[in-house]
Formats: sequence, C-alpha cells, structure tokens
Amino acid sequence: MNPLLVCDQLHYHFPGSSQAALAGASLTVAAGQRVVLLGRNGAGKSTLLLHINGLLRPNAGTIQVEGQTIAYHRRGLNALRRRVGLILQNPDEQLFSASVAQDISFGPLNLGLSVAAAEERVAHAAELCGVGALLDRPTHALSGGEKTRVALAGVLAMQPKLILADEVMAGLDPWMRQQLFTILNQLVAQGTSIILATHDLDIARHWADVVAVMDQGRVVALAPPATIFGDATLVALLGPRAPWGEMKAR
Ligand SMILES: Nc1ncnc2c1ncn2[C@@H]1O[C@H](COP(=O)(O)OP(=O)(O)OP(=O)(O)O)[C@@H](O)[C@H]1O
Ligand SMILES: [Mg+2]
Repeated sequence: MNPLLVCDQLHYHFPGSSQAALAGASLTVAAGQRVVLLGRNGAGKSTLLLHINGLLRPNAGTIQVEGQTIAYHRRGLNALRRRVGLILQNPDEQLFSASVAQDISFGPLNLGLSVAAAEERVAHAAELCGVGALLDRPTHALSGGEKTRVALAGVLAMQPKLILADEVMAGLDPWMRQQLFTILNQLVAQGTSIILATHDLDIARHWADVVAVMDQGRVVALAPPATIFGDATLVALLGPRAPWGEMKAR
C-alpha cells in the first residue's frame, strides 16, 4: 500500500535568509499513524508542516499525498487542503473570519457541501472541541486556548486524512488536552494520520507510534519511541528531561 505522505529531500530557504530552514528533510507517514515531530527551537518543524500543507513551496524536493505530487496551482492546493488540515503554532495567524461559526464553516462550505450538511459538520466539530457556546463570538475576542480549539474545530470539520498540529497542546488546559487526545485517537482508529509537533517528550514517549526528530532542517531519525529514547545521541540532542524537583528553575 502507498504511504499517505512522502516528503522527499525537501530544501527551503526563507527569502532573504542566509541559512536553509529545510536542508534535505524527508519523512514518510502511513495511514492511521500517530507521528510526533520533535526538535529544538528552529530545527524546522513548523517549516516542514507548512510545506506539507502547501503553504510553502520547496526550493527542491517533492511531496506526495496519497501517491499524488502536490500541484501548486489553485485547484491542486484546494484538493490538497481537503486531505491535509493544519493547526498553526500561533492561532492568531489562522482565524480570519468575523465570527467563530463563520471560521469553522469556511472550509466545509468551500467543499461544495449543502449549507445544512456544512452546518451539521460545524456543530459537531464545535461540540467536540468545546466551543459550541462560542459560535457567535468574534474570533478576536477569544482566549488563546479558545482560539486553538476553534482552529482545531475548523480542521476537524473538513474531515482530513492527515492532521498537522503545530504545538497545539501547550496552550490547552489539562481537560482539553485529554479531550483532544481522545478525539485524535478516534480519528486514528478511522485511519486518519496525525503529525504533532511538540516539545513535550512525554507525548512523544507515550502517545506516538513513530517519532521524527528534526535537527538543522533535516529529519535525523524516524522510529518508534522506544528506539528514539534508547538512543543516547538523540536523547542528548533533545535536551535535559529532568523532573521538576531537579530542574535548575530556582
Ligand atoms: N518567516 C521566516 N523568515 C525567515 N526565517 C524563518 C522564518 N520562519 C522560520 N525561520 C527560520 O527557519 C528555521 C526553522 O524554523 P521553524 O519555525 O521551522 O522551527 P521550529 O522547529 O518550528 O522551531 P520552534 O520549536 O521554535 O517552533 C529557523 O532557523 C528560523 O529562524
Ligand atoms: Mg515551530
């Protein structure tokens, strides 16, 4: 069976930057796989996710989703975004409609669904993400965590094959984190794949099927958590993992 996603040797320079943000990044993801993307600040995690969603175009290298190479014309990108949903690291960059309801329904309405079918998806996604009571609110008048939930609801309403989540857990309360993992696990059981970028090594250790470690614009390791955390070089790369009592916090 074809993998769901194949990124092959992606290279990318941000305009005006002297350093490559991606320097030959490759990544393969199977259907129904939970992938956690680790790596230090600036390793290239967000840049890679922006490429997989077609928001950035590589200077070299290719990306295939369900066996099809991304085509960068409007129709190709629309087709891609039906299958790949991205929740950005900064939800302020993601929400652009006047109201929460409009924001969540933007994607489903663009799929050509009937208004009634789109409304049903929006209501269901909003309920799952705990923002059902916020539908009439302006998007700018939300807390950070609420914005993340709305962005998540917008992605879930599209029912994508692949969900890219960039640091979404950090801004969520423990209840919502638990809820989010429940939602993600249900989607995975139905064959959806998830790539979650995070600095939380516990999530990588306990939730991931596969961990991808990035360093300096490359994926330097792709393996089950036991393999990653059994490798002293990779553990050293990821940094100290001290319990709170041993942290040099005060
Ligand atoms: N808009 C931009 N313009 C220029 N350089 C950028 C831009 N965004 C990111 N970079 C650079 O590209 C590299 C990769 O950044 P990226 O945001 O992908 O890292 P990251 O792994 O997501 O880090 P973090 O853990 O801090 O979110 C970094 O060197 C960063 O400085
Ligand atoms: Mg990032």
